[in-house]
Amino acid sequence: MISKILFVCLGNICRSPSAEAVFKGSAKKRGMESQFVIDSAGTSGWHVGETSDKRMQKHALKRGYSLDSVSRQFDPDVDFDRFDIIIGMDDENIIALKRMARDMDDLKKIHKMTDFSKEWNYSEVPDPYYGGDEGFELVLDLLEDACSGLLDSLTQNDIKN
Ligand code: 4NP
Repeated sequence: MISKILFVCLGNICRSPSAEAVFKGSAKKRGMESQFVIDSAGTSGWHVGETSDKRMQKHALKRGYSLDSVSRQFDPDVDFDRFDIIIGMDDENIIALKRMARDMDDLKKIHKMTDFSKEWNYSEVPDPYYGGDEGFELVLDLLEDACSGLLDSLTQNDIKN
């Protein structure tokens, strides 16, 4: 069965496009890429139509991830129906998503990225937008770890979709 997964952050120009690329890379490494439909969106509409942040792109590319998505805003009436699993990057994203949920089925789809961490002990993927290089590297470290954990959970059927 195909799992449809949507990664969500605030602007959809740093963390969620990176999550999309990292997850696709991890799935490809395991030969599982055909099992997923992957997309990303922002809870805000601030950067709609823009390509990913140039700094995020630079750091991602150093690890072999090409960020090619264009920012779009999360649409509850479309995205809660289209996706099985909706993964927010931080607590603010989770609160925004839960507010938009229309019913219990929608609510059950919402998860936090760091809940799938294996090595790193962070409760959120911190917003790197106003910080320096190390913030972008941290985003990628956390995402590589959590995407691997998410794939483990999906493989073991620990997460319903
Ligand atoms: P993202 O990062 O949510 O990871 O895409 C941000 C991008 C833009 C802003 C904040 C966070 N902003 O304030 O414009």
